Amino acid sequence: MNFELTEEQLAVQQAARDFAQTELLPGVIERDDKQEFPYEQVKKLGELGFMGMMVDPKYGGSGMDTISYVLAMEELSKVDASASVVVSVNNSLVCWGIETYGTEEQKQKYLVPMASGKVHGAFLLSEPEAGSDATSQRTTAEDKGDYYLLNGTKNWITNGSTATYYLVIAQTDVDKKHKGINAFIVEKSWPGVTIGKKEDKMGIRGSDTHSIMFTDVKVPKENRIGEDGFGFKFAMKVLTGGRIGIAAQALGIASGAYELALKYSKERKAFGKEIMHHQAIQFKLADMATQIEAARLLCLKAAALKDADQDYALASSMAKVFASETAMWVTTEAVQVHGGYGYVKEYHVERLMRDAKITQIYEGTSEVQRIVISREILK
Ligand code: CAA
Repeated sequence: MNFELTEEQLAVQQAARDFAQTELLPGVIERDDKQEFPYEQVKKLGELGFMGMMVDPKYGGSGMDTISYVLAMEELSKVDASASVVVSVNNSLVCWGIETYGTEEQKQKYLVPMASGKVHGAFLLSEPEAGSDATSQRTTAEDKGDYYLLNGTKNWITNGSTATYYLVIAQTDVDKKHKGINAFIVEKSWPGVTIGKKEDKMGIRGSDTHSIMFTDVKVPKENRIGEDGFGFKFAMKVLTGGRIGIAAQALGIASGAYELALKYSKERKAFGKEIMHHQAIQFKLADMATQIEAARLLCLKAAALKDADQDYALASSMAKVFASETAMWVTTEAVQVHGGYGYVKEYHVERLMRDAKITQIYEGTSEVQRIVISREILK
């Protein structure tokens, strides 16, 4: 077993670390406060090749492996999870889905602009009554011959108003249940697409989350992904990879909070010495570092399996549930280490604590990950 990163992977990690410090850190508190989408930062991430990291360069991507993606996600998320979720959704859900299952025409038309970061995408699965229970789709796409007529509402859509293209999951035949679900590429500019209310969220407040409504939207047949009825499996496959990205995001939130707590413990004095000299703080730091390292190894294992074309469903759910619970716990402890300072915005850890919570919810709740894990180990 080799734990060494390649020179290329180390370079990606360093580039993401530099970007986070120079481009994401300035203004991150204000963007969170005002719920401002990081437009400029996402544009630059695209120019640097982070928006289509794993996509073949012939489709505008950077052709990197999943390990590099995990490293980049960790570094970006240490500082700004609102920006890193845009990177994650575009890479794992949208670009990977189209590159793996799309037609050549779909790749040329939609993947190239998204992988090169000129525009970005969104993944529309969740509905008011279909979050974890993803087969219960109410959005319908009625087959009208050479097009589908799309109607329904999607909720909590990351990149909802900023994305140019949507991957939409919809029911085409209710009687067939999950086998009657399809995935479609839909352009935001098409008639009948309405952007609904922006969510006022607890965390990742700089990211853009909306409900999206479809009213008699004509979707050309050629915009369906894969064979008729492939949509549910498509969503599951895409989310299996997406969970590695969110696990890495959670890892980054945790390691960002840990680094701040470590630094603070060396500066802050109490009872006549820096607080790092108190065993109560030392034990917290030791536990944080250990949990983070375990989360990192799970993320990298899932990424390595994916890169080796092996089954990674179990590994990605284990990484996601463990890393997200680590993020919640570590960020809470980081606030505690900071005491009163941790509770105010200036010290960043309260934001990281709020951001950590979403990693236990999106791309499959912790409960969903446990369903996947138990099914895998019991089968
Ligand atoms: N890969 C391939 N196929 C899969 C699969 C996978 N990982 N998981 C399931 N399937 C297949 C099954 O084999 C089955 O196919 P057959 O009928 O041919 O055997 C079919 O899909 C149905 O599977 P299940 O019976 O297991 O389905 P289920 O209804 O019991 O659901 C579930 C299982 C794991 C709970 C699933 O519904 C799930 O993952 N739910 C969570 C959805 C989710 O992650 N939502 C997040 C929204 S997106 C988001 O958050 C993006 C964002 O904005 C950041």
